[in-house]
Amino acid sequence: MSEVWLGDIRLRNRLVTSSSLLGYGAPDPGLVPYGMSPISRFVPLERFGAVTTRTLTVQPRDGHFTNRTDWPLHALPGLLRRYATVLRGVDGGWINAFGWCNVGIQAYLRDYYPRTRDQNTIISVGGFAAEEFVALVDAVNAAVPPDEIAAVEFNVSCPNVDHDFEPILAGVLADAVPASRHPVILKLSPDRDYVRHARRAAAAGVSALTAINTVRALRLNPRTGQPLLANRYGGLSGRAVKPIGLRVVAELRDAGITLPVIATGGIRTFDDCREYFWAGADAVSLGSASWLASYPGYALAPLWGWRIRSILKRIELVSDKQGYSAVCHSPAAQPHGLPNG
Ligand SMILES: Cc1cc2nc3c(=O)[nH]c(=O)nc-3n(C[C@H](O)[C@H](O)[C@H](O)COP(=O)(O)O)c2cc1C
Repeated sequence: MSEVWLGDIRLRNRLVTSSSLLGYGAPDPGLVPYGMSPISRFVPLERFGAVTTRTLTVQPRDGHFTNRTDWPLHALPGLLRRYATVLRGVDGGWINAFGWCNVGIQAYLRDYYPRTRDQNTIISVGGFAAEEFVALVDAVNAAVPPDEIAAVEFNVSCPNVDHDFEPILAGVLADAVPASRHPVILKLSPDRDYVRHARRAAAAGVSALTAINTVRALRLNPRTGQPLLANRYGGLSGRAVKPIGLRVVAELRDAGITLPVIATGGIRTFDDCREYFWAGADAVSLGSASWLASYPGYALAPLWGWRIRSILKRIELVSDKQGYSAVCHSPAAQPHGLPNG
């Protein structure tokens, strides 16, 4: 099997999945398909370069949704109504405000991680203080031997947990990065000074960057003025953010950032991947396109699965530098950043 190395991060190929969209990489132990994308039933997750988990916190969190899974049938309409206050389709994308709804790091490591060992995993962690990131890294260190996962991803860029990460960034980088026995990825927000954050990450020994997290966004009901989401603000993802993601990746390269970049933002087709490679990405990541559809759209999951499998097939051909150059080669231009590996 071909592999791609982004610095010290080992990926199976250049296509990974973005944090949260495939839950924890395995269905809830109780209800078989719960917590997993319908598409995941048609795409073997071990074929991805890596699967990134939902962001995990020290303690379990309901965020703005719920971790409860034992919903009786008669309560399902209420659950769907609640779901609509944390995730809404908007023009060209989605806004969500799950607010780090997750089972907590210990439950993940105990109940989910052991069932995903055949996948290559990126464990996403998030906290509100540097000490929480250290505690999360310690928990992963204790449960996961080196080389068993691709990396740990630090989420200091979520727009819907109503927290200003700016004051804790220096502490997170100084304390939690050296504490990790696994490579660390820093996930960047398009709403922040991502070039400065990337420079700080490089100086602190971070192995790679993920760009971008969702874009802070707002939608109101035009008749009532009420926000569509329970948290008022949410994070915009999907097609609408692709030009923003491309801008961020290109600006990182223009600013001389040399850390490997995993690009996420509106990717749906192989051409989207190519665009990101041209902008300077080393790997690309499927987010909304690996899960989100209108409810009737889920009937098309087998078709989506087929589309994702065809992207994977083409991506597998661009694992090495040669294959990558061949895909992006044009006489007029060269890719901005040549991926490692
Ligand atoms: C429903 C939903 C939940 C998300 N949850 C997380 C999360 O827990 N942690 C995180 O770092 N990013 C999270 N994201 C952001 C995605 O990982 C990705 O960075 C973003 O959606 C851009 O990619 P896309 O346009 O392909 O979806 C979430 C996105 C969506 C749509």
